[in-house]
Amino acid sequence: FSRALKPAALAVQNGAKNFSTTSQRNFKVVVAGAAGGIGQPLALLLKQNPLVTRLALYDIAPVTPGVAADLSHMNTPAKVSGHKGPEELSAAIKDADVVVIPAGVPRKPGMTRDDLFNTNASIVRDIALSIAQNAPKAIVAIITNPVNSTVPIASEVLKKAGVYDPNRVLGVTTLDVVRAATFVGEINGVDPTSVAVPVIGGHSGITIIPILSQCQPALKLSDPAKIKALTERIQEAGTEVVKAKAGGGSATLSMAYAGARLTASVLRGLKGESNVVECAYVKSSLTEATYFASPVVLGKSGVEKVLGYGTLNEFEQQLLKAALPELAKNIKTGEDFAKK
Ligand code: NAI
Repeated sequence: FSRALKPAALAVQNGAKNFSTTSQRNFKVVVAGAAGGIGQPLALLLKQNPLVTRLALYDIAPVTPGVAADLSHMNTPAKVSGHKGPEELSAAIKDADVVVIPAGVPRKPGMTRDDLFNTNASIVRDIALSIAQNAPKAIVAIITNPVNSTVPIASEVLKKAGVYDPNRVLGVTTLDVVRAATFVGEINGVDPTSVAVPVIGGHSGITIIPILSQCQPALKLSDPAKIKALTERIQEAGTEVVKAKAGGGSATLSMAYAGARLTASVLRGLKGESNVVECAYVKSSLTEATYFASPVVLGKSGVEKVLGYGTLNEFEQQLLKAALPELAKNIKTGEDFAKK
């Protein structure tokens, strides 16, 4: 959500220092599910982040040590370690500052994100348990679907272990923001990196609510039918990729890009940079849904502030109304699973 970059960019232009020389700049980041379609390119991007000095790659796949060996030959500061199988999970997680989780199965054509629940719920639960034991202060960024339910699962596991901090658990919805900016950029005929569109709600179908009325620069569409079609394209963009990959999985490369952006923002917050804002699915009291995606300020202890979503037009209010019961159901499914 690049509006956040502006104050920092201005400070740099003015020659001002916007970071303290004593701030931490060496972080351990774990990718759990690192050998997968998202995990590998995500690890590739994180290996290039100068704030990452240790990159631990965890997966159950036999190729994991090889992925680590491969990346370790890149001449960037991060020291890469590979950890294969549950017996090596603790070592991977130990003392992590950030744990990014793309572990689990992706969709095939015809599947909804909820169809993944049975497999992915226990994967996220087990990784969250290890975080509780080995890095209870880590920021946890969950990519694994269904995000609307896996975030409540991880939160409940951390609660049971007595280490839950709602500011440290985020569901990654950055890809929805990235997609919205891309499509608006195409319509407006401008560089998509200059476009900012907040996307709120959750991360599946009708729970994905792009706030096109707050788009910066303003969206060059006024026909309500076209705005509705664009909204639906953003909501169904994941399915567009699933169909195009024809059984070969879901979005991986654009997701890795979005995951690396969110992780980079989390790290900038941790090192003390101000005005770092991203949309994320977090514990929230903005609506009746107890978890909700909205712009948040990222700081030294994770989510520093949950920002509101401003004024919605009538169409967006209807989208929100439709999303809330679905979100509540998804949250309950996750919480019920974790309580079992
Ligand atoms: P993939 O199948 O290519 O990779 C998943 C990886 O997880 C595999 O390497 C597998 O060995 C590993 N894995 C499975 N069980 C594990 C366990 N217990 N511990 C550690 N690793 C384990 O799948 P892909 O395409 O990378 O997708 C991963 C997840 O991300 C899926 O749930 C998918 O739905 C989700 N996703 C989320 C998006 C978002 O915007 N939040 C966007 C796209 C995908």
